[in-house]
Amino acid sequence: MNRIGIVAEAPGETRVAATPTTVPKLIALGYDVVVEAGAGAGSSFSDAAFAQAGATIVDGATAWASPIVLKVNAPTPAEIDRLADGATIVATLSPALRPDVVEALATRGITAIALDAVPRISRAQSMDVLSSMANIAGYRAVVEAAHEFGRFFTGQVTAAGKVPPAKVLVAGAGVAGLAAIGAASSLGAIVRATDPRPEVADQVASIGGEYLEVVVPEEAKQVSSDGYAKATSEAYDRRAAEIYSEQAADVDIIITTALIPGRLAPRLITAADVASMRPGSVIVDMAAGQGGNVEGSVAGERIVTDNGVTILGYTDLPGRLPQQASQLFATNLVNLLKLLTPGKDGELTLDFDDVVQRTVTVVQDGAVTWPPPPVQVSAAPAPTKGTDAAPAGAAAGTAAKRPMSTAARTGLIAGGIAALFAICAFAPPPLPQHFLVLTLAIVVGFYVIGHVAHALHTPLMSVTNAISGIIVVGAMVQITVPDLTVQILAAVAVLLASINIFGGFAVTRRMLAMFQKGETR
Ligand code: NAI
Repeated sequence: MNRIGIVAEAPGETRVAATPTTVPKLIALGYDVVVEAGAGAGSSFSDAAFAQAGATIVDGATAWASPIVLKVNAPTPAEIDRLADGATIVATLSPALRPDVVEALATRGITAIALDAVPRISRAQSMDVLSSMANIAGYRAVVEAAHEFGRFFTGQVTAAGKVPPAKVLVAGAGVAGLAAIGAASSLGAIVRATDPRPEVADQVASIGGEYLEVVVPEEAKQVSSDGYAKATSEAYDRRAAEIYSEQAADVDIIITTALIPGRLAPRLITAADVASMRPGSVIVDMAAGQGGNVEGSVAGERIVTDNGVTILGYTDLPGRLPQQASQLFATNLVNLLKLLTPGKDGELTLDFDDVVQRTVTVVQDGAVTWPPPPVQVSAAPAPTKGTDAAPAGAAAGTAAKRPMSTAARTGLIAGGIAALFAICAFAPPPLPQHFLVLTLAIVVGFYVIGHVAHALHTPLMSVTNAISGIIVVGAMVQITVPDLTVQILAAVAVLLASINIFGGFAVTRRMLAMFQKGETR
């Protein structure tokens, strides 16, 4: 059985890599857990709470000497020296930006797993710390902006006068951007958002934002194939700059989150844009740590410009909600360890045939395995072969579903009407009457159900449950008829309608369970 050491972070970092809620989950995977005394202090998790959860509280040297060390940030050179020979460290290592750390870990013969290298594929979402942290950061960016802003976000009509809602522009609608849009619109602000990936328009609208499309020629657009943005074209940047200038003069708050992986953050808001904003306006440049989306922002600093605009370049936004950030980070870690401990026996194994395990491993037993082979994930519809020149989406749509021709449709309707007349004319009563009702029910049902939005399928299911109830009652009346065929049909009707009713209840129960509050930490 292996021991996991939870070590304290360097001063300034409030998060911790395990919480009293996740410790029992690590123990359930077969590990012994030791926590460095005071490691959870920044997140208000006391040593006593960790001990109660089943961890042993130890000194720093013991925690660092564990065969497996879990940490939030990359280790410093001094910390790398504290690792035991052949140990495994799991942390946010930024291998692309910190080759020195990767090299130092390799020299020590360590196995290093980078949590921030988790590929953005659905299966790995539960381990994706970058998304968890960006989500918290987007929310916190709005809280910071609201704190600096001297007015309400929401509009109000009060006895003392009418208050207009604040206007917020969010540049970049990735994970952090969407969280910011959701938080700002739930506070009542008018929220607008930009992003070069047109596929985010629906997501922006669904959380209350308005997507500002940067209209450019088709060839200058970009569609993401991996969930991340590609570099924007010159035509895009030119038109986007005009939009940012118009918006800067109009909005009260700008939150920028634009990022293209592997590059410095694109510069979106110029000094002239900042100068055109009203005094009291606030900008949060979430990309300040990567060079900044806003001219004049400084990483980690709060700046107030000559025209009274506050620019926040904080780089520790997740750490400003330490309990929440630690909880999500630690849960991501548990999910990763579940994958790496298939036997639940405290033995950490690495299977390089698994794309997630391969991608996160940056050093294995001292051998550098970074960078991993590229992972192809599909965030947007793949272009259909042979129709590359057609607009994205349109090509895939036409290939998948070709509408019926008018002639075929007319023929089908005429055939149906002829069959209906034939049955009505020649079948013995009361069959024509029942057949007519059945036909009308099918037509009405087809149009009613076919046009119900997906979101309303649950209430629709309740209606079908009610209809099934009527069928059960009718079939139970018929089951007494002294005719074997009728009895068999009635029994089948009761069976099928009951499956619908009880299946419906079971599905509804499961769906409701998804909305029930569980433990929050
Ligand atoms: P993401 O990759 O999910 O989203 C970035 C978005 O920017 C993408 O939707 C992309 O299409 C968009 N984008 C790219 N170029 C653009 C352009 N020219 N104009 C407008 N949008 C553009 O990244 P995520 O996870 O949302 O992170 C966003 C930023 O927030 C990153 O810079 C990240 O480092 C930063 N961040 C900052 C934190 C802090 O404490 N300040 C904490 C967490 C993240």
